[in-house]
Amino acid sequence: MKIGVGNLLSAISHLIDISQGRKEHAPKVTYISLQIAKQLQVEKGEIKKIYYASFLHDIGITVSDNNFYASHVNIQLAKNHCLLGYEFVRKLPLDEEISEIIKYHHDFYNGLGAFGYDHTVLPLASQIINLADQIDINMNWSKPYYLQVDDLKEWVWKNKGILFNPSIVDAFLDIADKDKFWLDL
Ligand SMILES: [Fe+2]
Ligand SMILES: [Fe+2]
Repeated sequence: MKIGVGNLLSAISHLIDISQGRKEHAPKVTYISLQIAKQLQVEKGEIKKIYYASFLHDIGITVSDNNFYASHVNIQLAKNHCLLGYEFVRKLPLDEEISEIIKYHHDFYNGLGAFGYDHTVLPLASQIINLADQIDINMNWSKPYYLQVDDLKEWVWKNKGILFNPSIVDAFLDIADKDKFWLDL
């Protein structure tokens, strides 16, 4: 039997989501990241790295960081799981850039994130996953998306050039205008 790397990573990330009590976080972040990457016309090889990195981005969240939300907003918890994830994924037979992308997924455009690096040095892929991650974390999926999207878009727009890369914000706002994007999530 032959198992594709993509299928294996998808299964692993699904297990992680279950163990962390967060339903479908990794697939949602992956979907949003890929839509942004396509909108930005990121080249195919880079899209594949974003696909793997976004599926595995929170693999470093351990049982001891059992507050999943806190791991996304508390800078020390964020740094801890970025480092653990980086160390783990680095050992997998994947392109080394994927572990680097994971390491910096909680760093912000202005340099006020987990490791304090800003947009001049952060991989574009990390910046894409960072925004996609914040979208899923800030959505309440038990409520209709159309009651939340306007506030979410306003928050993203207000953080353009502050937390988030302006071109990534523009790409997200373009796709977020389409109902299909939210319905497919
Ligand atoms: Fe994370
Ligand atoms: Fe996440």
